[in-house]
Amino acid sequence: MIFDILTLFPEMFRSPLEESIIGKARDAGLIHVNLFNIRDYAEGKHRVTDDYPYGGGKGMIMKPEPIIRGITAIQSDSPAVRVILMTPQGYPLTQEAVKRLARQSHLLLICGRYEGVDERIRDVVDEEISIGDYVLTGGELAALVVIDAVSRQIPGVLGDENASGDDSFSQGLLEHPQYTRPREFAGRKVPEVLVSGDHQAIEQWRRQEALRRTWKRRPDLLSTAGLSEDDRQILDELKGSSGTD
Ligand code: 6GU
Repeated sequence: MIFDILTLFPEMFRSPLEESIIGKARDAGLIHVNLFNIRDYAEGKHRVTDDYPYGGGKGMIMKPEPIIRGITAIQSDSPAVRVILMTPQGYPLTQEAVKRLARQSHLLLICGRYEGVDERIRDVVDEEISIGDYVLTGGELAALVVIDAVSRQIPGVLGDENASGDDSFSQGLLEHPQYTRPREFAGRKVPEVLVSGDHQAIEQWRRQEALRRTWKRRPDLLSTAGLSEDDRQILDELKGSSGTD
């Protein structure tokens, strides 16, 4: 997978992409990240990349020519690249969207600054993505989120081939609680069932706690989670009693 990034701030990407799993995936050649500075595609002595908004108003708008010149340069080497504008006005990044992006082989992520980009840039992008309903100072952190979430879907990036399958959202539910040693910490004991050795009881407990947590924190997810008859019965029982979590 190749990620090309068009940004005014390429330095924002370096350290986050050198650490941990993403750093190792790059070292192993499983993912490639190329940073392009929008300023390098701007013309004139001052290489201006933004300007005042027509019609007036606060803030500056990113000019169309430098960004479109950058896109065209990258496309001339890679016509199949998928061009994505990072913007709070984009379609929300969900785990489903992440999996769809992971089927591509080459993404170009364009990072706007928060005041916005000239509308004509939208004519040359394939899609627009937002990472949530809040406003960042620019698309750079959002692009890092896309790189991270998409990369962990790529075979070999996580040590265990199945490791991305079991966590929150992959089954449409939040993940069940997890414990490690010590067995008792600050007066709080690990639930007995987890040390029972009864694998069927453990799976049942985990499903129940995943359902409980999802119901308490993200009830909106339950309508699309694909629940079994057993799941619905567990939920009815949870709703009947009332836990704390
Ligand atoms: Cl992609 N960009 C900015 N500037 N803010 C955001 C965002 C993107 N996604 C959520 N907020």
